[in-house]
Amino acid sequence: MLVSGRSHAQLEQIFDEVEAPFAFVDLDAMWSNAGAMLKRAGDKPIRVASKSLRCRGVLERILDRDERFAGTMAFTLPETLWLAEEGFENLLLAYPTADTGALGELALRSVANPAGAPIVMVDCVEHLEAIESVLGAGAAPVRVCIDLDAGWWAVGGRVKIGPKRSPVHTVEQAVALAREIERRPQVELAALMSYEGQIAGVGDRPPGRRLRGVAIRTMQRRSAAELAERRAAVVAAIREFAELPIVNGGGTGSLELTGAEDAVTEVAAGSGFYAPALFDHYSRFSLTPAAGFALPIVRKPAPGIATALGGGYLASGSGDPARLPSPWLPAGLELDPEEGAGEVQTPLGGAPAHGLGVGDRVYMRHAKAGELCERFDTLHLLEGDEIVDAVPTYRGEGRTFL
Ligand SMILES: Cc1ncc(COP(=O)(O)O)c(C=O)c1O
Repeated sequence: MLVSGRSHAQLEQIFDEVEAPFAFVDLDAMWSNAGAMLKRAGDKPIRVASKSLRCRGVLERILDRDERFAGTMAFTLPETLWLAEEGFENLLLAYPTADTGALGELALRSVANPAGAPIVMVDCVEHLEAIESVLGAGAAPVRVCIDLDAGWWAVGGRVKIGPKRSPVHTVEQAVALAREIERRPQVELAALMSYEGQIAGVGDRPPGRRLRGVAIRTMQRRSAAELAERRAAVVAAIREFAELPIVNGGGTGSLELTGAEDAVTEVAAGSGFYAPALFDHYSRFSLTPAAGFALPIVRKPAPGIATALGGGYLASGSGDPARLPSPWLPAGLELDPEEGAGEVQTPLGGAPAHGLGVGDRVYMRHAKAGELCERFDTLHLLEGDEIVDAVPTYRGEGRTFL
């Protein structure tokens, strides 16, 4: 459910001096979302997912805000190494890498600081071999994390629901990989991660689709119960022969469920800070939109249409219409069904379009979180009625990782 934050007039006053297009983060809304996520996570620390923020200045503010925001979940190895260089600690790379050059650099970091170097994700022997291939004979071990598939296998395994990620699904498979890691002196088992995208990343109240909502809620309930049991069994089985200090799970959409599992030591979240549009439709929580972008109106093809410059910032994923950006303020604007959000222009209809003229600005929200930062160099940070800072995005720092 969407809780609205600012009004159009308020944003216009605050950004009076800023030329559109521009992007911003409303820190008041972001801290309200942050507080709500800490509550939902129970007593578990939250590892901050950098892919959903993509701005060093914002990441640093969050990590400084509360000691329960502990550590960063990074998304590529070059990014991880860069963040480490910039002073970030407790880094967990959540996706496997085949970048042997970057693995070589990681190996050097691991020599310099074996217990503090970033942890990298593995889900097969090939990942272990890639790491070993860059290590010299006497090198310090590289710390690794096993990615456990969190998918739900229904109808006796004939239907598999969840992101297609790790091949490691059963207790036996997880134990076999953990034993393989234990056998190899150049890798050290430091963590287990299992991300339940079918729960955390799927809103269970899709607008206008009541029956689909019922089906999603049923699937999520059953999947969560199955995963809690399997995750606990995997952790217990591995701990019989290895230490497993970190067990990470969950995301913005599942904090209360994953956080309640005893086997989980920490949860992950990123999107919930910015609260992009895809997170408007969950029954378990509501967030305040905290990130947006402004576009200038540059033409009026008809009295009821106001056309904005640019705006075609589609989100990655399945390609359904929910991946389009959403007109936000003034409330009531609608995308054109033929044109959607375009490369160079976005025509907007709906009642408020009549009152918009050339030079006015409209405010939009991205469907996902961090991808907004791939379109803008700077995030203007606002607090109360003021712009309090302007910080470079990853792109603004010349860092394009994905
Ligand atoms: C491994 C992993 N953990 C956690 C998350 C949750 O991130 P967010 O809170 O941004 O939805 C994701 C999102 O895809 C993920 O891939």
